[in-house]
Amino acid sequence: MSEKTIALVTGANKGIGYEIAAGLGALGWSVGVGARDDERRDAAVAKLQAAGVDAFGVPLDVTDDASVSGAAQLIEQRAGRLDVLVNNAGITGGWAQQPTTADLDVVRTVVETNVIGVIRVTNALLPLLRRSASPRIVNMSSSVGSLTRQSDKEDPLTTGPVAVAYAPSKTFLNAVTVQYARELKDTNILINAGCPGFVATDLNGFRGVRTPEQGAAIAIRLATLPDGGPTGGFYEDAGQVPW
Ligand SMILES: NC(=O)c1ccc[n+]([C@@H]2O[C@H](COP(=O)([O-])OP(=O)(O)OC[C@H]3O[C@@H](n4cnc5c(N)ncnc54)[C@H](OP(=O)(O)O)[C@@H]3O)[C@@H](O)[C@H]2O)c1
Repeated sequence: MSEKTIALVTGANKGIGYEIAAGLGALGWSVGVGARDDERRDAAVAKLQAAGVDAFGVPLDVTDDASVSGAAQLIEQRAGRLDVLVNNAGITGGWAQQPTTADLDVVRTVVETNVIGVIRVTNALLPLLRRSASPRIVNMSSSVGSLTRQSDKEDPLTTGPVAVAYAPSKTFLNAVTVQYARELKDTNILINAGCPGFVATDLNGFRGVRTPEQGAAIAIRLATLPDGGPTGGFYEDAGQVPW
């Protein structure tokens, strides 16, 4: 088994995921770059390696059972275990998401990627995480999934546009995170949700105000929590995000 800490970041070919991979790599970790497109994955791995990161490509579509089990096999063969899983891959489904005119296919696709994809990937990697001395799981959520903030009329900056698919998918993901923490409470696995803030990436047509590197910071913090640290929580740089 490898002496280095081994991490897997889903959706690591661009945006916040790429910067999470870069940040974890800068700690001297070996980082699996999970990405569904071969060219985009190879380009990201090459760029990370050129920056001195011990990066390796992991073909991974979070919506595909065979792809996810192939990713788990690849990590098992390469490292024999996994220390940190960052479930970062996500989609919005576009922004025409008024509830009263919802396209049900969009709702299904967003939930399939942002929620079911996280469960699929987490469960496939759990046997390898259980072999780690200090396993950590980080789910990239969003403050748009906070029902408290969504209900706060004074808080328009964190609530985003009305969205029947994306925002509830992050609420669902937060709830899923809490359920994992409950089941795993007597293990050494810490699982938390993080919000990167409003980050300029493809996801929002680069309208965000933070850099992907700034957005990656919360994931890196949750990936490096000490033993006995918090689990089942929802955090941003400034501290806890209300549910
Ligand atoms: N940007 C923000 O302001 C913001 C705010 C709050 C939360 N977040 C969350 O942060 C995470 C990263 O977002 P981002 O802003 O960095 O977005 P992004 O630049 O659009 O990157 C999304 C990543 O997810 C990947 N992905 C999408 N569907 C996938 C699938 N089925 N299988 C594997 N990978 C898939 C994309 O791969 P492809 O290149 O192949 O599409 C890409 O690598 C998301 O979970 C997002 O919801 C972002």
